Amino acid sequence: MTDRPTFQIVDQRSRIPDGPSVARGAEFTDTRGRALRDLRISVTDRCNFRCIYCMPKGVFGKDYPFLKRPDLLSFEEITRLVRLFSDHGVRKIRITGGEPLLRRGVEHLIAALAAMGGLELTLTTNGVLLPRMAQRLKDAGLDRITISLDALDEATFRRMNDVDFPVADVLAGIEAAEKAGFAQVKVNMVVKRSVNDHAVMDLARHFRGSGHIVRYIEFMDVGSSNGWCMDDVVPSREIVDRISAEFPLEAADANYHGEVAERWRYRDGQGEIGVISSVTQAFCATCTRLRLSTEGQLYTCLFAQQGHDLRSLLRGGADDERLRAAIATVWHGRRDNYSEIRTAETAAARKIEMSYIGG
Ligand code: GTP
Ligand code: 5AD
Ligand code: SF4
Ligand code: SF4
Repeated sequence: MTDRPTFQIVDQRSRIPDGPSVARGAEFTDTRGRALRDLRISVTDRCNFRCIYCMPKGVFGKDYPFLKRPDLLSFEEITRLVRLFSDHGVRKIRITGGEPLLRRGVEHLIAALAAMGGLELTLTTNGVLLPRMAQRLKDAGLDRITISLDALDEATFRRMNDVDFPVADVLAGIEAAEKAGFAQVKVNMVVKRSVNDHAVMDLARHFRGSGHIVRYIEFMDVGSSNGWCMDDVVPSREIVDRISAEFPLEAADANYHGEVAERWRYRDGQGEIGVISSVTQAFCATCTRLRLSTEGQLYTCLFAQQGHDLRSLLRGGADDERLRAAIATVWHGRRDNYSEIRTAETAAARKIEMSYIGG
């Protein structure tokens, strides 16, 4: 007889129990002493790419049950929640997806959030819609933009996005972002061994001296459909060594407490790179991030198995006090440290998909 896995999904959402009321302005701390600072908001679970590490075609095919319009939080609902979150310590908002630029009118959401003041507004995109969207996003008040790009050679890039988007479309997106006034773009590359790791140096050479920052991300076991295994992970240490052998690097201090990427600067002054090492060097101890899914579930970890249902409270007529108390209950009860306890067994468990929770 085999042991039953202890890490199993029961239900992907749970009702948030009533909690004591909290004063406006109170900061929240979880069970590990971590403050709430960042909110990542997924505005759609759809994407025009099918990256093999995120939305493999075999799973996200024609019949995949994507969320329907009435399921999605409206911009008004999101804005109301963000106002509450900002009362309780949230300072940075990252808009994610799927592909966030597929959500019609996303610039109006950004404008509404910008009007609140006091929030850093950022967005992560695959970039191909930027030629027509970048200026609108900038004008709406978006502060920073991050663009994913997994290779510079056509064959590998197409193999990664799996729907034949050419590299040129993403490069055009980066250029459009620059023109719109996003001076420093972050370029995210997920590295998968023997699939695109040869592109590590291509990206380093291409973006060195450009003012943009390439961030190399260890392939993670998000969700349960991307076939993750440890052999596919290229440890960040190896990436830093490889780049440093051609262009010497030195460690740089973090920009802020809890920054996900570790910074490395080119010694010759040609800019910097970042590495994101969720697998080989967990950063849970300083994790201040909360995630709001497209349909209004709160997730306290990227690898969560269960969300907390804010939408039913919102749509059930809860007043601000009840919503504040609900958010406090979720954060105060937070214990997550998935990357510190990852095993082959946890990696194989059913978890929320990246395209739903927004990375
Ligand atoms: P900035 O530091 O503000 O530029 O943003 P960021 O690096 O937090 O955001 P981005 O969306 O670019 O995320 C980069 C990568 O880090 C993505 O692959 C994310 O999934 C991953 N990531 C972000 N936050 C977490 C986290 O809390 N845990 C883990 N394991 N990975 C994360
Ligand atoms: N492992 C690491 N990074 C991932 N991303 C998507 N799926 C994975 C994964 N399995 C990245 C995207 C994007 C960011 C939000 O997350 O490429 O840059
Ligand atoms: Fe789409 Fe981004 Fe996922 Fe790729 S990684 S499938 S671009 S959401
Ligand atoms: Fe935060 Fe979970 Fe990522 Fe750890 S694994 S850094 S707790 S989101």
